[in-house]
Amino acid sequence: MLIDTLKYISQLLPVLASVFFILSLRGLSSAATSRKGNIFGMLGISISILVPLCYCFCVLFLRQIIPNNINDFYGSLFFGLTIAALSFGGGIGYDIAKKINMTALPQLVAAFHSLVGLSAVFIACAIFSAPNLFALFNTSDQPIPLSNAIEMAIGAAIGAITFTGSIVAFGKLQGFISGKPLKYKGQHKLNFLVALLIIISSIIFVNKQTAILFAIIIFASFALGYLLIMPIGGADMPVIVSMLNSYSGWAAAGIGFTLDNNVLIIVGALVGTSGAILSNIMCKGMNRSLKNVILGGMGVETSLTNDSGNIQRNVKICSPEDAAFIIKNAESIILIPGYGMAVSQAQHAIKELSELLKNEKISIKYAIHPVAGRMPGHMNVLLAEANIPYEDAFEMDEINHEFGSCDVAIVIGANDITNPAAKTDPASPIYGMPVLEVERAKTVLFIKRSLGSGYAGVDNPLFYQGNTMMVLGDAKKVVEGLIKALKEN
Ligand code: TAP
Repeated sequence: MLIDTLKYISQLLPVLASVFFILSLRGLSSAATSRKGNIFGMLGISISILVPLCYCFCVLFLRQIIPNNINDFYGSLFFGLTIAALSFGGGIGYDIAKKINMTALPQLVAAFHSLVGLSAVFIACAIFSAPNLFALFNTSDQPIPLSNAIEMAIGAAIGAITFTGSIVAFGKLQGFISGKPLKYKGQHKLNFLVALLIIISSIIFVNKQTAILFAIIIFASFALGYLLIMPIGGADMPVIVSMLNSYSGWAAAGIGFTLDNNVLIIVGALVGTSGAILSNIMCKGMNRSLKNVILGGMGVETSLTNDSGNIQRNVKICSPEDAAFIIKNAESIILIPGYGMAVSQAQHAIKELSELLKNEKISIKYAIHPVAGRMPGHMNVLLAEANIPYEDAFEMDEINHEFGSCDVAIVIGANDITNPAAKTDPASPIYGMPVLEVERAKTVLFIKRSLGSGYAGVDNPLFYQGNTMMVLGDAKKVVEGLIKALKEN
């Protein structure tokens, strides 16, 4: 009776976990419901962890459901290793989550994806070397069934590509590897040949199932991951991380089919599709195609100097006190947060500034560009962290028409997303990218540390426009200076 109930529960729980994952994705699609989305995700993952733990418990302590081919030794070992892995991985994850900076999230995500890819490879290797241990296939003298062998080969190949690709993405984002696009002759031909080798080895493998073929698939896929991601510029890494996220999902789904594990299949498919959709949204926000991102190679490491080289142009630089005077006399202000706000963690100071201005009956709105910062929803997360009301934040399409009637646009650590060259200069690498029409405001205040470029490595003509004033300095310090000056006047 107890065993039947436990079996029933262990079949039901994965379904429940999958429902939570779907609700999580739904919640995460809007800033207002994102907290709920996170909670659903946590519930889903907790249940997914509980299921194998319950299974281990049953294997060890309720002997009736021990499959014939698992003896006491393997049962204890399995249980012990699972607990050890959960405690070790959970402890490290907790520590990283506590310490990680918001700006370092893209590389953290890349590092985590590499682990997903490597797990898929390890699981495929384990199944291949001891299929009976997994109680999946009938006997040792029969080969792994064709469909399982296909899923295993696909899962292992995508997992291996994800692993090395994510390691390279992590290295580039963290600055361990140069962010410059690396181009060489015959690059696409070489990638094509390695991909062909993987496909041919996989086709032979599913029929012959030899260890050497399996090794070729895995090592050639490791090489392909490296070869594919290494030439891509650091500037395009967030899109690549999202693409690798999608790959890791498909790898998990492939292995899920082999293991007949519904949670892995559903979660893998959800991650695979949502990652692909996200990559597409990011590409649209930059007006680029995924093919162009993978083959194009845009962006260089940012410079802290004026990118216009020797060309002398007039720039108006003002102090926080001067800027405070302009702000105080405004009736409507639009704030444009960007990557620099995230770097300096200026969101709380910005919240204080906007409260101060609202008390003076000045209209305050936030303009959020879809690719502001370094990851989707980056600005929304930071504004929410500072308890800035959701209703004050407007998406680009909602607010662009308001710049013409706005007194002051305050750009806080943003650059590319305001660059008018994206509309006017066909030679610009960001030409065609939709941007916030900040230049139409009566006065533009630019808060950043220098006249240096942003992510795309291109100069911003807005710095030299007649109605622009640069307030140079760290975003948080400048905003605090503005608050101080406003309070003193
Ligand atoms: P960026 O164009 O990268 O500009 C950020 C600016 O912040 C820099 O010019 C930098 O200038 C300034 N800054 C850095 N640290 C600062 C600090 N402590 N205080 C003040 N300013 C600081 O950022 P953006 O305007 O948010 O645009 C995002 C870019 O990322 C776009 O090119 C977009 O295509 C790309 N991208 C985004 C995503 C997603 S999903 N968000 C994905 C892929 C690519 P200084 O050095 O002079 O201070």
